[in-house]
Amino acid sequence: MNTPNIYWHEAFVSRMLREQMNGHKSFILWFTGLSGSGKSTLAHAVEEALYELGCRTFVFDGDNVRHGLCADLGFSSEDRVENIRRIGEMAKLFTEAGVIALTAFISPYRADRARVRSLVAPEDFIEIYCHCPLEVCEQRDVKGLYAKARQGLIKDFTGISSAYEAPDTPELLLDTGSLPLKDCVAQVLALLSNRRIIPGSLGDGD
Ligand code: ADX
Repeated sequence: MNTPNIYWHEAFVSRMLREQMNGHKSFILWFTGLSGSGKSTLAHAVEEALYELGCRTFVFDGDNVRHGLCADLGFSSEDRVENIRRIGEMAKLFTEAGVIALTAFISPYRADRARVRSLVAPEDFIEIYCHCPLEVCEQRDVKGLYAKARQGLIKDFTGISSAYEAPDTPELLLDTGSLPLKDCVAQVLALLSNRRIIPGSLGDGD
């Protein structure tokens, strides 16, 4: 969108300076998957591990954000597009602030995830597919929403009456339906360590 009469203001305290002060890079860890696939649990567990390493982090969680920033949005495809657009912009701002942004949203549409990816440098968007069969999510049904969706009490429910488009080439695919949480966390940390973007990475001098 064009924004006439609005000018960008360059900050003196740049992202690079913030990253230097923090001792790590900032980036987006984008968790995607069905409701109940373990996105939030994993994002929070990864955050805890990063916190232990001294990293500045923040988790954006679907259910929480929908209480505030996105309280006006429902689950139609238009609203989901807008939900992910806002979260994407917010996550980008957090990377500018030198923070590692972890997002846990179903984010069911490929195009929306690709749009967020295009907002930042290629290395700053790391997509993690929490792969968990629908049957397992439905069996877990922690919030009782699948049962309601099956009864027709919730419409447009992802996996039941609304599409989920799985990532074709995520940076990481985790079988969150079968792999223990600690193994999933270890795989995410190994990926970040291999990329040398967190403290303690091999060869980064820490
Ligand atoms: S997204 O599709 O726009 O990315 P988001 O991650 O914010 O969804 O919210 C998903 C959460 O909202 C689910 O984990 C579930 O608890 C709740 N929810 C309520 N209604 C629906 C629905 N129709 N489809 C999916 N999730 C729903």
